[in-house]
Amino acid sequence: TVSDVLPIAEAIARRAGAVVMEGLGRARQVRQKGAIDFVTEFDQRSEELIVSALQKEFPEHAILAEETGLHPRTGEYQWVVDPIDGTTNFAHGVPLFAISLGLLRGTVPVAGVVYDPLHEEMFSAALGRGATLNGRPIRVSSQTDLGQALLATGFAYDIRTNPRNNLAQFAQFQLRTQGVRRLGSAALDCAWTALGRLDGYWEFGIKPWDVAAGGLLVREAGGRTTSTAGDEDFISPGTIIVSNGLLHEQILRVLREGDAAPLPQ
Ligand code: IPD
Repeated sequence: TVSDVLPIAEAIARRAGAVVMEGLGRARQVRQKGAIDFVTEFDQRSEELIVSALQKEFPEHAILAEETGLHPRTGEYQWVVDPIDGTTNFAHGVPLFAISLGLLRGTVPVAGVVYDPLHEEMFSAALGRGATLNGRPIRVSSQTDLGQALLATGFAYDIRTNPRNNLAQFAQFQLRTQGVRRLGSAALDCAWTALGRLDGYWEFGIKPWDVAAGGLLVREAGGRTTSTAGDEDFISPGTIIVSNGLLHEQILRVLREGDAAPLPQ
C-alpha cells in the first residue's frame, strides 16, 4: 500500500535534513536562476542524496526534482522533490525551511513527507491514512470565522514582472483576517495548516515540488486543498489554497471578489 513508502521517504528526508543542517549559516549562492531566485550548494547536495536514494528504493518510479528536473520512467508513480523548500530563508540563516517529498499517481498526491530538520518536525501522510507529526495524528483547526483566522501566503520569483503577483490579494486578506504571514516555505505553510497552527494558505505561481506533499497533508488532516480556482487538481494549475475546510469557501470568495468581498464586522 502507499503507506508502506512513508517510513522509507521519512528516512530519506532525515538524511537530506542532516546535509542541509551542515549548510545552515554557511551557505553560499552558487547559481542564479532568476533576479531573486538562486540555488545553494546544499540544495544540490540534498537533491543528489534524495534522487539517488529514491532511485535505489523505487527503481520503477519517476522523479521530478527542483534542481535537476525530470528523471523519467514508464510507470504511473512520480516523486516530486524539493531538496530545500525555503532556500531564501536558508541562505540568509532564517530558521524556517524544509525538505519535501511527495508521491503522485498521475496527478493525484498519494503520499508525502515534509521534514523541518531544525525543529525536528516530521510531517507525513498517505492517501486515506491520515496525517501525522512525529508519528502522532494531527488535525486542522476548527476556526470558522475568517476575521479571526491566521493565514499564510507566498510570492513567486517572478513578482517583479508578473502582473498577477499576489500583492493586491495580500492586502485584501490582511484586512479580512487576524493576519497574513509570509513564512517563505510553501511546504511548511501547508504542514502548519494541517497541524492547525495556521488556518489556511494560498499562493499563485507555485511549483509541484513546493506543495505536492503539503497539499496531501492538509487533506489527510481533515482540511481541503484546491487550486485558487477551486479545482481538486492543484498540481497542474500551479496555484493552491489549503485550509481547514471550514474557511475554504470564504477564502475562495475573497480571491474571486477582491476588494468587493465583505470586511469583518
Ligand atoms: C519557495 C518557497 C516560498 C514560495 C515560493 C517557492 P523554494 O520555494 O516555498 O515560500 O513563496 O513560491 O518557490 O524556492 O524555496 O524551494
